[in-house]
Amino acid sequence: MSVMSEEKQRLWIEGLSITELAERYSTPCYIYSHATLESNFIAYQEALRGHKHLICFAVKANSNLAILQVLARLGAGFDIVSVGELERVLIAGGDPKKIVFSGIAKTSVEMRRALEIGIYCFNIESEEELFLLNQVALDLGLLAPISVRVNPDVDPVTHPYISTGLKESKFGIDIREAEKIYHKAKKLKNIEIVGIDCHIGSQITEIQPIIQALEHLIVLCDKLKSQGICLEHIDLGGGLGVRYENEQPPSISAFLNSVLKCFSGRNETLVLEPGRSIIADAGYLITRVQYLKNNDVKNFAIVDAGMNDMLRPALYQAWMDIQSVNCDVNKPKKYFDIVGPVCESSDFLGLKRLMSINAGDLLCMHSAGAYGFAMSSNYNSRPRAAEVMVSGDQAYLVRERENLADLTRGENLLPEQILK
Ligand code: LLP
Repeated sequence: MSVMSEEKQRLWIEGLSITELAERYSTPCYIYSHATLESNFIAYQEALRGHKHLICFAVKANSNLAILQVLARLGAGFDIVSVGELERVLIAGGDPKKIVFSGIAKTSVEMRRALEIGIYCFNIESEEELFLLNQVALDLGLLAPISVRVNPDVDPVTHPYISTGLKESKFGIDIREAEKIYHKAKKLKNIEIVGIDCHIGSQITEIQPIIQALEHLIVLCDKLKSQGICLEHIDLGGGLGVRYENEQPPSISAFLNSVLKCFSGRNETLVLEPGRSIIADAGYLITRVQYLKNNDVKNFAIVDAGMNDMLRPALYQAWMDIQSVNCDVNKPKKYFDIVGPVCESSDFLGLKRLMSINAGDLLCMHSAGAYGFAMSSNYNSRPRAAEVMVSGDQAYLVRERENLADLTRGENLLPEQILK
């Protein structure tokens, strides 16, 4: 782990103290550890050595250009869900031939751009999408490589908002319908079938549901083969969970060992779309306590990061570890609700935390690298935070804090004559 406690409870990210980083870049601020990011990705690569694979980082988890650049340099592919993510990957030096395009609502404009760039595969989520893609490819005189994202109806045992592989979900195509879709796809002139895909959910902490989904995919893959449709790859999506509190997800290598067991004797390339397990524990959200406030029933620590900076606690009641950066271990502790400046009661980073907190203290939220900055917004007209990458004893500003002019960029006042 890249945060170490010293005697005085000062916290460090790689070779730099959080206190100094906060002084240099101000708060709220996201800080990433280059070393942790690299080692998470390398853990995937090492575990898959010996089997053909493509690890496509799910850009939605964190789309900062520097993060994508580090991963691209290590050989990563990318899982994108919009043309915006596509452009980011290209700027960061990602290889188009290693891009898979997920998402249930791809537009013809997005399809066209991805076809022109020559991405590896479109993950198809409906019959209508398949027909539109064929048409766009026909207009361009190109072949569109596809896999069908099947919905295997497996319960990933995670928060309902991030469960995607159950029948009631809007994602994927019912696995019982998928065979028909493959046969329709085979007849389309500008479609090339290359794989099969699923993604059953996120923050999955048990191997079993993912293996169960894989087994369903393999059965279908073999059935299609017997009907003359041979698939190059099996894409298992992302979803491996991380430890926020006391969850005990399998390690990357334990998870992949189980997956590879199902692949023994098989020739398909294994494609994965991990997001959280690569970037979550490489990121920290640093915030400063503005005020303390208490009443008969509660102590509040009011901090300068809000739900617009980190939405996970408000949206999923997610528990994220929050540590005091400069706390005196000998001071008495109290239960605090750590709340932000946004005018919503759901605006909290953590509830009922037993801590010693003073106004002016710095707090560090751990495992904030995934779905942290990426889900941030300008709600309450708050500029979005800075992002910094630490590598050894150097820090690099990889996204400037937004300024007040950024907040109104692109907006126009109405002309005088229409105002009373
Ligand atoms: N592939 C597809 C098609 C996905 O929809 C997702 C995530 C992933 C891959 C990456 O999954 P991961 O390895 O990161 O679990 N905002 C939520 C998580 C939403 C996940 C959406 N899809 C959160 O903060 O918990």
